Amino acid sequence: MDQYNINSDAMKMAGELIRQGELVAFPTETVYGLGADALKEEASRKIYAAKGRPSDNPLIVHIADFEALEKIVKVLPKEAKVLADAYWPGPLTMRFLKNEMVPDETTGGLDTVAVRMPDHPIALEFIRAAGGYIAAPSANRSGRPSPTLAEHVAEDMDGIIPLILDGGQVGIGIESTIVDLADGDISILRPGFITKEMLEETLGQAVCFDKGIDGCHENEQPKAPGMKYRHYAPKAEMAIVDGEAEKVIAYINEETQRLAENGKKVGVMATTETADKYVAKHIKVMGSRKEPGSLAYDFYKILREFDEEEIDYIFAEGLGEEGVEHAVMNRMIRAAGHRRVQL
Ligand code: TXA
Ligand code: MG
Repeated sequence: MDQYNINSDAMKMAGELIRQGELVAFPTETVYGLGADALKEEASRKIYAAKGRPSDNPLIVHIADFEALEKIVKVLPKEAKVLADAYWPGPLTMRFLKNEMVPDETTGGLDTVAVRMPDHPIALEFIRAAGGYIAAPSANRSGRPSPTLAEHVAEDMDGIIPLILDGGQVGIGIESTIVDLADGDISILRPGFITKEMLEETLGQAVCFDKGIDGCHENEQPKAPGMKYRHYAPKAEMAIVDGEAEKVIAYINEETQRLAENGKKVGVMATTETADKYVAKHIKVMGSRKEPGSLAYDFYKILREFDEEEIDYIFAEGLGEEGVEHAVMNRMIRAAGHRRVQL
């Protein structure tokens, strides 16, 4: 089904499955989600089982209108309305103190709930058809790259869930920005397409990053439990190479040759600006540094393609430390299990 031509039979079936406590995968503008009724503890439990996800890692609750938010939070800070007016529906998740409507199973035992309104017609119609509250993590098996195509969901979830709503490739390609409104200072728990600068501009105040998010502060536990796990991992060994473009290219080419001599298959995650400078057989272009959004679009798809091509080693060009580049880099660091070469 395409997003402007929604199949009403499929939607009805999806709504019924959710009411029966089942799981349904659906497209959003960020990545595909694995949905269940957020207000039923049994349904949330099923999500953890299907993903193989640790049960202390809370789920995001997806809603289709602002009134739905008011019903599940204990306190509604004024910033919520300001941010919702600016970015909902859209790739922004906000964290609040929850009330008793939301079961502990959905929030991994926390007294907070993360909520977002996705900007995708199929997602919004599905949420409405299903009763208004859909708990949904990304629809990958735990630890695998997030799915940006229905085919990716099928790879991971075939035979495990009864229905996947296919909306084609998603528009953004990385998960939503998570911002904390439950805990005094406003902070970003996961970077995404909505950047720190955008949030500061909208709120007219400083917003900080949670110290745990890039895994570079050793003693700092991230506030979003999901940020502590190795994530988005391809089967290959992966390393990020940071530094001046010329040096990065020279290093990756030398390593490619050395590994190829040992019979290893090497893949390179490059940018439009550098792709033709590599000697590897498997070069994939994330996008252009001139258009940071383009770097996110195919990011996870490329990791899955390298898996299919049975690549042994992946070298990825490091990206910048700000805006959407930082958000993609944050996923890349986890995909590489924190292996970085600084030139
Ligand atoms: O774009 C997205 O957000 C996608 C689509 C499907 O909406 N969903 C998504 O869900 O990325 P998931 O489960 O893959 O990632 C949710 C992240 C995890 O890192 C989790 O720990 C964090 O959100 N999270 C959820 N509820 C939280 C809470 N109450 N407090 C702290 N972190 C929370
Ligand atoms: Mg995920």
